[in-house]
Amino acid sequence: MAVIADRCPQIHVTVVDLNQARIDAWNDEDLSRLPVYEPGLDAVVGRARGRNLTFSTEVEASIAAADMVFISVNTPTKTKGLGAGQASDLRWVEACARTVAQAATGHTIVVEKSTLPVRTAAAIQTILAAAQNDGAERRFSVLSNPEFLAEGTAIADLEAPDRVLIGGDDPDAINALAEIYGHWVAKERILRTNLWSSELSKLTANAFLAQRISSINSIAAFCEASGADVREVARAIGTDSRIGPKFLSAGPGFGGSCFQKDILNLVYLCRHFGLPEVADYWESVVQLNTWQQHRIARLVVEKLFGTVTGKRLAVLGFAFKANTNDTREAPAIHVCADLLEEGAQLAIHDPKVATAQMARDLKQDESAVLDSSGSWCRSESIEAAVAGADAVLILTEWEQYRQLKWADLASRMRHPAWVFDARAVTESQQVRAAGLSLWKVGDGEG
Ligand code: UGA
Repeated sequence: MAVIADRCPQIHVTVVDLNQARIDAWNDEDLSRLPVYEPGLDAVVGRARGRNLTFSTEVEASIAAADMVFISVNTPTKTKGLGAGQASDLRWVEACARTVAQAATGHTIVVEKSTLPVRTAAAIQTILAAAQNDGAERRFSVLSNPEFLAEGTAIADLEAPDRVLIGGDDPDAINALAEIYGHWVAKERILRTNLWSSELSKLTANAFLAQRISSINSIAAFCEASGADVREVARAIGTDSRIGPKFLSAGPGFGGSCFQKDILNLVYLCRHFGLPEVADYWESVVQLNTWQQHRIARLVVEKLFGTVTGKRLAVLGFAFKANTNDTREAPAIHVCADLLEEGAQLAIHDPKVATAQMARDLKQDESAVLDSSGSWCRSESIEAAVAGADAVLILTEWEQYRQLKWADLASRMRHPAWVFDARAVTESQQVRAAGLSLWKVGDGEG
C-alpha cells in the first residue's frame, strides 16, 4: 500500500487496523522504528505518509469513504477443528468481509490481497451480497490480486514486478485496479484471469518455488554422500534455460510465513476435491523440508562425538532468511529446538531478531542465561557467541557472515571445533586454515 501511495500521489491510501499499538508504530516519527524491517520501506513511507498515505484505526469510516478495499489479513494454518494442521484459518478474512459489507457505501471494489484457498472469493461474494440485499445503496465487485513480493526485496519486487495478477469477472473493476498498477507497471505485465485461476496461481507459484528448494536440498544430501558439490550441480542445471538459475541454493530448508502454509493448504484442497495422489505429491515437498532441518541438527550431534549435552554452540542467524527480522517458520527454530532437546547450550546471534522473539519461538524464558544443559542466550556480537564454543552453526545467509575472520574466531573456541555452514557462505579454505573442521551443506568433498 505504501508503494501504491508512493507511485500514485493522486490516490489516497488509508491503511487500517484494529490494533492501536500497531498503527501508532506505523505513525512513529522515527522511521527506523517502523514495525516491519524491510530495506527501502522507510524511505517509501517517509515520502508518502502525511501526503496521501494514512495509518488509522478508524476502520468503518475509512471503508465508507473508500472506492476500493484491499483485504490483507493473516490466513494462518488452522490449529484445531476441521482441516487442523493444513487448511487455512479464514476467520479474519470473513470478519473483514462482514465489516466491509456493513460499512461500505456506494459501489465498492473488494480486493483479496491475502493468500487464500481457491474459491474463497465465492464466500466473500455471498457475505457481501447479503448486505447488498438489505436495502442500503451498496454494490460490490470482488477481485483477486495476490501478492508475489518476497521479504527483504519487497520494495524492489513491488516497483518492478515480473507480473501483476488480477482475477475477476467484472471488467470495469478489473480495469480500475489495472489502472492503479498501470502508473508504474507495463501493461503487458498486468495479467487478467478468472477469480479461481488467480487464487490458485498464488498457491501454485509458492508450491513450485518451494518444490525447487526441496529438490535441491534432496540433491545436496546426495552430493554429501557421493562426493559431488551441489553448487556445481546447481550451476550445471541452472544454465539450462528451461530450468533457470534462481531458487537453487541448498540450505537448511525453506522458512517464512508462506511456503509451508500455502502447500499444506493446497494439500488440503486436493484431498477435499478427491485428489489424494496430487495431495501426497505436494505434501512430500514439506516432508523433505522438515527432514532437512532435523538432518542438520542430527549431523551436528553426530560430528560432536554423538553428544552435545552441556556443550556450547554458537548459532549465527535466526531469521528465516537474510535482510528480514521475520522468524516465522525459520529453519533455525527447528534446528535450535532439536539441539536444546539434546542438552546443548546455544549462544544465538542475529543482527535483526530481538531476544523476546527468539524466546517466543523457542518457547523459552526471555531472561535466559547459559548455565546448564539445554539453555540458551542471545549474543550481541559474533565474538561473544563463539567464545568457548565447540561449534559454529550458520543458519541465515547474512552478509556479515560471509566476511568472518576465521583465524580470530577459532582462537576463541574450544578445540577440536567445527563449523556447520548450512548456507554455504564460508570460504572452505579459510575455515580449514584456521584449524576448524567444516561441514558445508551439499559439499561432498568435506
Ligand atoms: C515467498 C515467495 O518467494 C514470494 O514470491 C511470495 O510472495 C511470498 O513467499 C509470499 O507468499 O508471501 P518469502 O517467503 O518472503 O517469499 O521468501 P523467499 O525468498 O521465497 O524465501 C523463502 C525461504 O526459502 C527462505 O527460508 C529462504 O532462505 C529459502 N530459500 C530460497 C532457499 O533455501 N534457497 C533458495 O534458493 C531460495
